[in-house]
Amino acid sequence: MTLASRWPAVLQAVMQGQPCALADSHYPQWHPAPVTGLMNDPNGFIWFAGRYHLFYQWNPLGCDHRYKCWGHWSSVDLVHWQHESIALMPDEEYDRNGCYSGSAVDNNGVLTLCYTGNVKFDDGGRIAWQCLAVQNDDGSFTKQGPVLPLPEGYTGHVRDPKVWCHDGQWYMVLGAQDLQKQGKVLLFTSDDLHHWQPCGEIAGQGVNGLTDSGYMWECPDLFALDETHVLICCPQGLAREPHRYLNTYPSVWMSGAFDYETASFAHGELHELDAGFEFYAPQTTVAEDGRRILIGWMGVPDGEEMLQPTCAYGWIHQMTCPRELKYRDGRLWQTPARELEQLREAEHQWQGRASDAPELEATRLEFELSTSYVNADFAGALRLTVDDYGVRLERASLKNGEMLTRYWQGDVSHLRVLCDSSSIEIFINHGEGVMSSRYFPDHPARVRFEGASDITLRYWSLRRCMIE
Ligand code: FRU
Repeated sequence: MTLASRWPAVLQAVMQGQPCALADSHYPQWHPAPVTGLMNDPNGFIWFAGRYHLFYQWNPLGCDHRYKCWGHWSSVDLVHWQHESIALMPDEEYDRNGCYSGSAVDNNGVLTLCYTGNVKFDDGGRIAWQCLAVQNDDGSFTKQGPVLPLPEGYTGHVRDPKVWCHDGQWYMVLGAQDLQKQGKVLLFTSDDLHHWQPCGEIAGQGVNGLTDSGYMWECPDLFALDETHVLICCPQGLAREPHRYLNTYPSVWMSGAFDYETASFAHGELHELDAGFEFYAPQTTVAEDGRRILIGWMGVPDGEEMLQPTCAYGWIHQMTCPRELKYRDGRLWQTPARELEQLREAEHQWQGRASDAPELEATRLEFELSTSYVNADFAGALRLTVDDYGVRLERASLKNGEMLTRYWQGDVSHLRVLCDSSSIEIFINHGEGVMSSRYFPDHPARVRFEGASDITLRYWSLRRCMIE
């Protein structure tokens, strides 16, 4: 059955689901999250005609990875979002098993979505089409159908088109798996978004000397940033290392020189984009004023996601906060988008021995800590340690209670921490590192600082900011 015949079920799911999700004490108070069902990747993130548009992978019918639609929110300031009508439903033969991830472009004033139509067969096989949809005057979208079939030499895992315009020409990067089961990023070019020519592989296993780099690269995003080019993507199958790539799948960045003439990307090594427990499939766009803004999914597929307690309330996952990206001294810096400061209520300051610091209500909280040593306990459900090794985040596995740790290694002098009802985002040294994680404390949740070191603390309670 296609999702078209399930419209009444979608309406019912939303009507019944939203009050249930909002009654959950873990439902985010200022991060975008689904009103019901499962949300994953940010899609089609764009500043268009005076608003930001953020689409998202959404199964409104349940907490599982079926029936992927494109939900749609819009905002003028990246902080206050409003619901728009569902943009895409998997109701055509070519997208019947999901309108998978993709991007949005401004094509001569027409908001145009580029997405993957995913088709699965009973024998376990699959194919994928890269498809277009254009916005109508009433805000709805009309599908224009597939514009790119599976390229030769690749399996059915070819998806997540990120499209941009450079010097009047369209470019697309795609995540792919070749027939030898190696993960790749493919580049295509087009004059009109409808006819695409292949330009080859620009990154992946076996490209640019990369080895042991995984069997499938998802969600690529390539962009110019501060005199360099950055490729972000999600290589599946990277070997775990003692202190990084510890999640089921990581998100990485690499920088280098992208040459439009030769369609080649000479890049440096891979770096983990976020060292927390939950972060995947990020996407960037250019803000009205030229800043490069990133939003990620604060979730990871195929791990413990289905054990999250919010499933009992019919919803699962949330976005990260929007981040500004900068490239400096060979590093990618990420800081919370400055618009988020609107959420701050009165500022408080405190200085002294960590264990004497006030306990803070962690539900809607931002704090800055100047210190190189501290322990912080988040309602007994998450533990943050800063010491000579860097930052450590510990929490219990939802599966078996075993303690799990994530690491950011380096000298630490400053932390900026953003908390919501069931999430924490830690920005280290003004953006040198980030750790994003969900956690599920009993509420009201408090953060308690521990240890004898001297800390300087600035903190704000944050305003509630729900999607309207
Ligand atoms: C990443 C991803 C994408 C795909 C989408 C499906 O999380 O697997 O590669 O397009 O999710 O929801």
